[in-house]
Amino acid sequence: MESYIIEENTAKSSRLPARLDLAQSGTGLILGLFMWVHMLLVGSIILGKDAFDFVAKTMELAFLSDTGHGYPIAVFFAVSGVFTLFIIHALLGMRKFPISWRQHRIIRDQMQMMKHPDTNLWYIQVVTGFVMFFAGSVHLYTMLVNPGGIDPFLSADRVVSGNYWFLYLVLLISVELHASIGLYRLCMKWGWFTGKDARHSRKKLKAVKNRLMIFFLGIGFLALLMFIVIGWGHRQNAGERYQGTAYQQSHAATAEAPAASAVDEVEKTADETGAASHEADMQETAAPPSDQAPALDDAPADAPVSADEAEPVHDTAPEHNTAPATGAAPEHDTEAVQDEGTSDAPGPAADSHTEADAQDQGSDAHEPTHSAVETQ
Ligand code: HEM
Repeated sequence: MESYIIEENTAKSSRLPARLDLAQSGTGLILGLFMWVHMLLVGSIILGKDAFDFVAKTMELAFLSDTGHGYPIAVFFAVSGVFTLFIIHALLGMRKFPISWRQHRIIRDQMQMMKHPDTNLWYIQVVTGFVMFFAGSVHLYTMLVNPGGIDPFLSADRVVSGNYWFLYLVLLISVELHASIGLYRLCMKWGWFTGKDARHSRKKLKAVKNRLMIFFLGIGFLALLMFIVIGWGHRQNAGERYQGTAYQQSHAATAEAPAASAVDEVEKTADETGAASHEADMQETAAPPSDQAPALDDAPADAPVSADEAEPVHDTAPEHNTAPATGAAPEHDTEAVQDEGTSDAPGPAADSHTEADAQDQGSDAHEPTHSAVETQ
C-alpha cells in the first residue's frame, strides 16, 4: 500500500501539505486564544458564585431576553463551533504524530541527541494533544448536551458529585501546556513578533509563553479548587440550580414597571368602579322610591340629609362632617373624642360629655365637628 502511493506521487509536488499546515496553524490559533478567554470566563468562579452566574448568563445571551433567562441554544452553537474546530485541528495534528514504534524511536533519539528545548516542546505538544483527543472530547460532549447546565452549583456538582475533577485536572494541565506551546511555536513558525535579533526575540517570546502558562494554570487550579469547595458543600443538593440574580434585577425592574402600571390601572379602575358604584349607591339612596326620584338631582348641594340616609355616607370620609348629630354619626366622633379625652367614658354618653367639655374648655377643642351640627 505504502510503496504503491509513494510511487504514484513521486512525480508531482503538491501544495496540500503546506495548506494543511496553514489550516492546522489557523485552527490552533483560534482554539488557543479561545482557551485563554475560556479560562478567564471559567476563572470568574474565583470572584464568587454571582460573578460566575453573571458570566454564564451573559454567555447564554440573557441580556437579550425580557425575563432575564438565558438561551442555552447560544451555548449549544458555540460548543458545536468549537467542537468542529477541535476535531479539524486534531485531524490535522494527527499527520505529525509518530504513528509507528519506529517513528517514535526516531524522534526520541533525535531529542536525546539534539537536546534542543524546542524539539522537546514539540514532543510535549504530541502527548498533550493525544490526551486531549479523549479528555477534551468528553468535556466538549458534556457541554454540547448540557448547554443550559452551566451555573455555579451545576458546574461544581459536575466537578465533585460527577467526579469530573480528575478529568479537568488532566485536561487543564494538557490544554494549558498545549495552548501556550502551540502559540509560541506559531510565532516561531510564521515569524510573528520576531525583531531584528531572532535569538533575542525567541528568548523573550519563550519567557512570555512561560508566564502566560503559569498565569492560566494558576487560574485553572484556583477555579478547580473553588468548584471543589462549592461542590463539596453542595453535594447533598447536587443537581439543584443556583438561584442567581444576574440579569434578574434589571429585568425585574422593567418587568415591575408594566406590572406596576398594571397595578395602577387596576387601582384606577377599582377607584372608577368604586366611584361608579358609590355614584350608583348615592343614586339608589338619594333616589326616593320611584315616586320621589326627581328630587335628588335638583336637590341643592347643602340639602340636609336624614339620619337613616346618613348611614351610607359613612364610606366616603369627607361627607362625615356633615352628618347630623344623631346616634349613628356621632359614634365615629365619640371614638375620636374618647381617644383624645378621657379613656373610661363609654360610647354614646360622650355626646353630652363633649358639649359640656366644649363649654368648659371654650369652644376651640371640638370646634370642627359640632359646628357642622349647630349650623343645621
Ligand atoms: C465552547 C466550548 C466550551 C465550553 C462552553 C466550555 C465550558 C466550560 C465550563 C462551563 C467549565 C466549568 C466546569 C463545568 O461546568 O463543568 C469548563 C472547564 C474547563 N474546560 Fe471548557 N469549555 C469549552 C471548551 C473547552 C476546550 C476545547 C477545552 C480544552 C481542550 C476545555 C478545557 C477545560 C478545562 C481544562 C476546564 C477546567 C477548568 C478548571 O476549572 O480548571 N474547554 N469549560
